[in-house]
Amino acid sequence: MATALRRLGPCARMRQPLQNENIRCLTTRDHFGFECLPTQLVTKSLQKGFTFNILCVGETGIGKSTLINTLFNTNLKDSKSSHFYSNVGLKVKTYELLERNVPLKLTIVKTVGYGDQLSKEASYKPVVEYIDAQFELYLQEELKIKRSLADFHDSRIHVCLYFIAPTGHSLKTLDLITMKSIDSKVNIIPLIAKADALSKSDLQRFKSNVMRELISSGIRLYQFPAYDETSAQASASTDGLLPFAVVGSMEEVKVGKRMVRGRQYPWGVLQVENENHCDLVKLRDILLCTNMEDLKEQTHTYLYESYRSNKLQKLGFTDVGPDNQPVSFQELYKAKRQEFYDQCKKEEAELKQRFMQRVKEKEATFKDAEKELQDKFEHLKRVQQEEIIKLEEDRRKLEEEIVDFYKMKAAFEASQTQVCTNTKKDKDRKK
Ligand code: GTP
Ligand code: MG
Repeated sequence: MATALRRLGPCARMRQPLQNENIRCLTTRDHFGFECLPTQLVTKSLQKGFTFNILCVGETGIGKSTLINTLFNTNLKDSKSSHFYSNVGLKVKTYELLERNVPLKLTIVKTVGYGDQLSKEASYKPVVEYIDAQFELYLQEELKIKRSLADFHDSRIHVCLYFIAPTGHSLKTLDLITMKSIDSKVNIIPLIAKADALSKSDLQRFKSNVMRELISSGIRLYQFPAYDETSAQASASTDGLLPFAVVGSMEEVKVGKRMVRGRQYPWGVLQVENENHCDLVKLRDILLCTNMEDLKEQTHTYLYESYRSNKLQKLGFTDVGPDNQPVSFQELYKAKRQEFYDQCKKEEAELKQRFMQRVKEKEATFKDAEKELQDKFEHLKRVQQEEIIKLEEDRRKLEEEIVDFYKMKAAFEASQTQVCTNTKKDKDRKK
């Protein structure tokens, strides 16, 4: 079913027989030495070491850490996350592993608090931003004059293990939104987590429902390579298992005389490494044994390439001009530089004009305010002068009244003195 989502791998083209008739195929009879080329590559790769970056996206407590521990059969110590983060975070840890002299630098990135937010955007955006940020780091290194890609720690995500909750029903909206937002940026392998929660028939039905939903939503999953008939057959059978039903456990349980990794239930033991019980071994094979290089190649050749070309196009770079003729990078850079310079000049002139306009407007406002204040001052001065004149008039009137009063008082006192004198004279006369 998932085949409908597939694109043809690059090797499908590379491995077709050469069609050019000018090329003759010869089988050498002597030993020249180039048969040792693969050995050179192996030696070089072993010296350099391998890197692999896995992103685990899934709700809090869905079994991400347990599955990674089970895949690598190692306890990669990890603390449990809370359900109360306001934003989704990403926990990044790098481990140096060694298996029979083959060194592997493994980076595991796990979501923290995924699905615990009310807003779906708050859940999927940090994941998208993280993937883009790793592409951007690589692009910046590539664009440097002094590049050190050989020593550069390539943190681009090679595979995203998307953990689906074993509801037995259908995918959640957040699952669809997140997978749709990242399917052009990363190789997605969907997993049904804690698959031991579902019965065999429920699991089969759930797998079909999930695949139907993924296809109808146009979500692109990792495409298993199909170089030739054998690999195409292998890929088709792997396709049939998608989404992988996984069960994680680090516990050892006794089955007969053997100790196996599994989960013990009252009705029996689920052996995580038994292909009849779950798809863990298949997933491990794909990730570590058969498809690691392909996952890395698809990341570099398609997913990173698409990010890179989009980014450069956004910056205005193009391979062909308007006349469909190839454009040299140098010419384009010069033209862009000139365009940027002109744009800056234009913006500077506009800014200056806007500034002058603002200054003029402010000046006019200040002038109006100043005139208003001056008028107010004149008015108050006039009112004050009128008040002073009025007060002066009142004072003058009061002074006149005081003078009149004193005159009247003096006249009254004089008349009183006269009356007293006359009375005394009368009294004296009568005596
Ligand atoms: P956070 O990092 O806290 O988000 O959790 P996580 O997704 O890493 O989950 P973790 O691996 O810590 O597992 C949470 C619980 O689920 C533990 O109690 C595990 O034992 C249990 N668990 C993990 N895998 C499985 C599984 O496949 N089946 C069942 N039944 N339980 C599982
Ligand atoms: Mg965890």
